[in-house]
Amino acid sequence: MHWTQRISMCSLSAAMAVCLAVALPQHTPAQSASQADTSAASEQNWWKNAVIYEVYPRSFQDTNADGIGDLNGITQRLDYLKKLGVDAIWLTPIYPSPQVDFGYDISDYENIDPKYGTLADFDHLIAEANKRHIRVIMDMVMNHSSDKHPWFIQSRSSKTNPYRDWYVWKDGKGETATSPGVPPNNWESDFGGSAWQWDPTTRQYYYHKFYAQQPDLNWNNPKVHQAFENIMRFWLKRGVAGFRFDAITTLFEDPQMRDEEVLKDKNGKPIMQDGRPELDDSRTNNLPEVHPVMQEMRRVADEFDPNTFPGKRVLIGETYLPNIAELLKQYGPPGKPEFELPMDTQIGFINQLDVNTFRSRIDDAETRLDGNIPLIVFDNHDNPRLDARYGDDLHNIDIDRVISTILFASRGASLFYYGDDIGMKTTPPDTREDVKDPVGLKYWPKFKGRDGERTPMQWDTTANAGFCPEGCTPWLPVPPTYKAVNVEVEEPNPDSLLSWYRNLIQLKKTHPTLAQGEETMLDTSNSKVLSWMRHTAGSPTVVVSVNFTPAPQTVSLSVPGTGGSLKTLLKSPGGAEPTSLSTIQLGPFGVYIGEVQ
Ligand code: GLC
Ligand code: CA
Repeated sequence: MHWTQRISMCSLSAAMAVCLAVALPQHTPAQSASQADTSAASEQNWWKNAVIYEVYPRSFQDTNADGIGDLNGITQRLDYLKKLGVDAIWLTPIYPSPQVDFGYDISDYENIDPKYGTLADFDHLIAEANKRHIRVIMDMVMNHSSDKHPWFIQSRSSKTNPYRDWYVWKDGKGETATSPGVPPNNWESDFGGSAWQWDPTTRQYYYHKFYAQQPDLNWNNPKVHQAFENIMRFWLKRGVAGFRFDAITTLFEDPQMRDEEVLKDKNGKPIMQDGRPELDDSRTNNLPEVHPVMQEMRRVADEFDPNTFPGKRVLIGETYLPNIAELLKQYGPPGKPEFELPMDTQIGFINQLDVNTFRSRIDDAETRLDGNIPLIVFDNHDNPRLDARYGDDLHNIDIDRVISTILFASRGASLFYYGDDIGMKTTPPDTREDVKDPVGLKYWPKFKGRDGERTPMQWDTTANAGFCPEGCTPWLPVPPTYKAVNVEVEEPNPDSLLSWYRNLIQLKKTHPTLAQGEETMLDTSNSKVLSWMRHTAGSPTVVVSVNFTPAPQTVSLSVPGTGGSLKTLLKSPGGAEPTSLSTIQLGPFGVYIGEVQ
């Protein structure tokens, strides 16, 4: 399922519960952050317990007052990221682009868009990040380029141009001298409408899974493979630690170009959406041909020494998949590795706090990925923020603690989105005139686009929330909530969400059991509280309990082979500290993390 479909589902799911909000002191972890470990083993394995922060560069920090974030802005904020405890930042695309899809339409893969800076600024960012032992991960968009990329300009110029076969071209049906006829088949763009665009110069259609300005590259052409291998080397040589592969499951299409099946309801009638029948996507999504491509890209990344910083170069996948079995395939068959970290969207996009679903999906990640490392992710630049998908408007910060605990106290790597660290709220545009995301313009007001989750980072209480210098106009308005929700206000407050994030991340990085231990679900018939333990030889077992309800709950756990007494590592503000596994009291949406002794 693609994110556009999820959006309509999740906006319905934010349950509105009524209860009292609490704000009481919280416990902080005893350990302090250790110095960066630079041993060869640590560099090779850094990604296995990694904390990765998604930066949307356009919205992070503007330094030249044009209202658009830039690379120098990210460099300026590295100390903040270091203090937060992140191991790596993933930058959404910063390449030259007409910005139709805000960078996901690339017109030059080996340069920086002047809006964001220069290659020299990029090198400076890498150097400064490296000083702080922070890695930089680039977005890699291989499914499509911009229609302004020289490859496509050549390709569309004539049927005999050497670049013709770099894209997916096809005759329409029923063409006459005066009419283009109709598209070759019923395939649809994920942004709505036919996925085929008629091009008058050569009187053929080209295929685009996304906007018409994003023509799909033809991955049956070996030259396309070579081009991207070299693009990856270009950035790896500049010191990047890996790539996040955009829309990777849509690289290939059915070679016979057969129609997608029309989805039917239980009475056999086509399911309609906006006057068009809903289609299956098995001819244009998740085709098996993508696997050898990822094995190839893995080999390119492996040309670079994993023993020294930035360590193992990692491949992260944007992998929205229907189930755990499909996710498992993304790691590659034995001896042919593909992604280190395909995103596990099974857990983070459940979009409702349902204990049983979370329990079974987390258990799947632990038991059905053959020991591979899950990359847990709840949020990104394509979906309404956490408040809109999990919040109840009364306990949003408590609910953020619940979610971040699942994110950071589960086994594996954790990926989160700028602004989650302070509790930024989804803030969609008020009027159609304000909309910047083309898909929002198209579907307004039913779907307002993705602007609401891309508003400027809220740094402080000054005008523009410190995102850009006073007097400038940010490309999207700063949400009015910024006066209370910002780094400056939250930083000194031990009960703030930002303090919680810092403490939790520090615990993940420094507690040996949380860093590496296996995960086993506890109290598995409880439908209100999710509990699990982390355990590994030679280090104390850790139990975690999170209350998914607005009412107080008490759980009683048992961990065989222990005395059952508890030492608190971190808990939500308020309430007594439990001393025994048999009575763990949790406030509304409360969280408890403790060592069993
Ligand atoms: C991915 C990106 C999204 C973009 C699309 C097309 O889903 O995350 O922002 O619009 O691919 O590149
Ligand atoms: Ca700028």
